[in-house]
Amino acid sequence: MTKLNNGNLIPSVALGVYKAPNDNTTEQAVEWALDAGYRHIDGAARYANEEAVGKALKNWCAKSGVPREQVFVTSKLWDADHERAEDAIADSLKKLQLEYMDMYLIHSPGNMGEEARIKAWKGLEDAVDKGLIKNIGVSNFDVEELDHLMQHVRIKPAVNQIESHPFFQHEELREATISRGIHIQAYSPMAQGAALDRSEIKTIATKHGKTPAQILLRWGLQIGNIILPKSLTQHRIISNAQLFDFELDADDMELLNSLDEGMKMGKLGPAGTSQPASPNATKPNSRRSSGSGGLSGGALKMTSN
Ligand SMILES: NC(=O)c1ccc[n+]([C@@H]2O[C@H](COP(=O)([O-])OP(=O)(O)OC[C@H]3O[C@@H](n4cnc5c(N)ncnc54)[C@H](OP(=O)(O)O)[C@@H]3O)[C@@H](O)[C@H]2O)c1
Repeated sequence: MTKLNNGNLIPSVALGVYKAPNDNTTEQAVEWALDAGYRHIDGAARYANEEAVGKALKNWCAKSGVPREQVFVTSKLWDADHERAEDAIADSLKKLQLEYMDMYLIHSPGNMGEEARIKAWKGLEDAVDKGLIKNIGVSNFDVEELDHLMQHVRIKPAVNQIESHPFFQHEELREATISRGIHIQAYSPMAQGAALDRSEIKTIATKHGKTPAQILLRWGLQIGNIILPKSLTQHRIISNAQLFDFELDADDMELLNSLDEGMKMGKLGPAGTSQPASPNATKPNSRRSSGSGGLSGGALKMTSN
């Protein structure tokens, strides 16, 4: 679990559901994840699958007897809805069949301008006051956008959800976000599966008896990211959460830190400042001020069935 800047806890690993269809494929995946011990689902209105997520959650809670309150559910306000946050929140709640969401993010700064963005955030603050959302945050915001928002609003964002993995570490934005007391949620934490066959990753995976995906995910946890691995495949959903029975050592981290090649997978979000690996990047954690933010309070315990 990770403690957010408002004192609330958030599970450090979520199942991501981007590019998951609004049908029983996603329902099944969400149920497999909950069975495997995930207690955090990262969704969005834009993914157009909130009905499937909501249905799965409802079924699983009924079947397992685990109360809905024990699962952390996230959705996001899409760019076109910045001026109608109240309606968009009501729509997501209805589709998810929930009375409240645990986290709700502004999906991206969008292109409707600063005023619309502030208006959107005030809509999120109102929803917090009404008990419809427990925590609010942003996604794909650069430092200027974060600072502008914080100058004009009452509630500080709890997280900034950005792309972060060894091949695009987004270190400058990570540091700036963390220094403002805001946690990083890392999307595409496995670089969308694009570099799992790299020899450096395979070597570390063999050393620990783990999969390449687990190495990328564990790196994210060890630098303090909350990670959101997406999969619709049962054995991957299970293994992607088995991250707490090993630790990457200084040599592993040094090698992984040296792989920052600016390999940005997503279209949204700031370009970032990842550079081809420099000699400086080969020092373990040389560019990091904090290596434990996301693991504070102990690791999320996942059942390993
Ligand atoms: N805020 C934003 O703008 C934003 C943008 C992008 C993503 N996100 C969030 O972050 C989540 C994760 O990001 P992502 O979906 O872009 O990328 P990702 O989680 O890094 O990678 C997902 C891809 O990797 C495959 N995969 C999963 N586990 C694997 C394993 N163990 N071995 C091999 N391949 C594996 C998946 O295939 P299968 O499904 O076929 O297993 C899928 O193609 C999203 O689902 C979403 O919740 C947010």
